[in-house]
Amino acid sequence: MPGTGAVIMAYNMDEAEELKPYLVEAPAEMSRRIDALKQQGKKIGLVPTMGALHLGHMSLAIAAKNECDVVVVSDFVNPTQFAPGEDYDKYPRMIDADLTLLSQIKTDYLFAPSPQAMYPNGFDAKVHVGGVTEILEGAFRPTHFDGVTTVVLKLFMLTRADVAYFGQKDYQQFCVIKKMVEDLNLPTMVEMCPIIREADGLAMSSRNRYLSDEERERALVLNRSLEEAERMIHSGERDVETIRKRMRAMILEADPNAQIDYIHFGNTQTLQEMERAVGNVVALLAVRIGSTRLIDNRIIRPKANA
Ligand code: PAJ
Repeated sequence: MPGTGAVIMAYNMDEAEELKPYLVEAPAEMSRRIDALKQQGKKIGLVPTMGALHLGHMSLAIAAKNECDVVVVSDFVNPTQFAPGEDYDKYPRMIDADLTLLSQIKTDYLFAPSPQAMYPNGFDAKVHVGGVTEILEGAFRPTHFDGVTTVVLKLFMLTRADVAYFGQKDYQQFCVIKKMVEDLNLPTMVEMCPIIREADGLAMSSRNRYLSDEERERALVLNRSLEEAERMIHSGERDVETIRKRMRAMILEADPNAQIDYIHFGNTQTLQEMERAVGNVVALLAVRIGSTRLIDNRIIRPKANA
């Protein structure tokens, strides 16, 4: 985010306090405030997150800010998308730091409900999208996407967002949400924003903090292997199995203990597996480095002058 340093220095602490987004915890209050804004004809932009914000999240909030009158960032570690044994309990929670970061771009609202408020006793609904949820992340985390679509639909309803912003970082998640929007005729438009990476290529993620220095170094191979896939395709390789073998070898060379859940080449809309890399293709991978499971992807388009 260019210029952030300058922005931080431009105001004193009192002003910073004023620039913080307004914190809303109760779903009913969020709804009420949105009603008033809608009556004034405001265009609402929603950025759903689980907090522990980094520049990847901020890039979505900036896109929302550029295109909408009012920006709501939601900050909710959604229990229903974690399976037992996953990192729900240790997932970082840092609302104060999130508020401070968002003050730099003057976000209007931070919606941070409690699990009890989102899922009161007796809550008994579920949104299920078929097809695209059954492969990749869905195969390794079978209950995950139902949790995601259920909470995202609730967030769409509570904020009545005109546009909701998601990151390419979770490419399959975007495809699932887009399918939900299409199949259920939801009035919210969904937009996908590019992956924001650290200077060394590691895709930013709230989970990167689980990595030791050494693991973080090894994790760089994820992006490197995706770049290699692009290089191979651009030099004419079409056989996905050959590319996958090369990526697998690179990953295991960087970390012999890495556990590769999948390396998948798919149709950019449906994610349907491609055996030949022809036209636009998205390469997706999930790899466990130490005990941290990381995902990354790259959209590979045919070389411009090929
Ligand atoms: P979370 O992992 O917090 O991510 C919130 C949004 O930020 C997602 O759309 C994600 O794709 C995007 N994002 C994360 N890292 C990014 C990066 N490096 N560059 C660009 N965008 C990035 O995804 C979720 O939360 C949850 O599943 C949620 C949709 C909020 C539902 O609970």
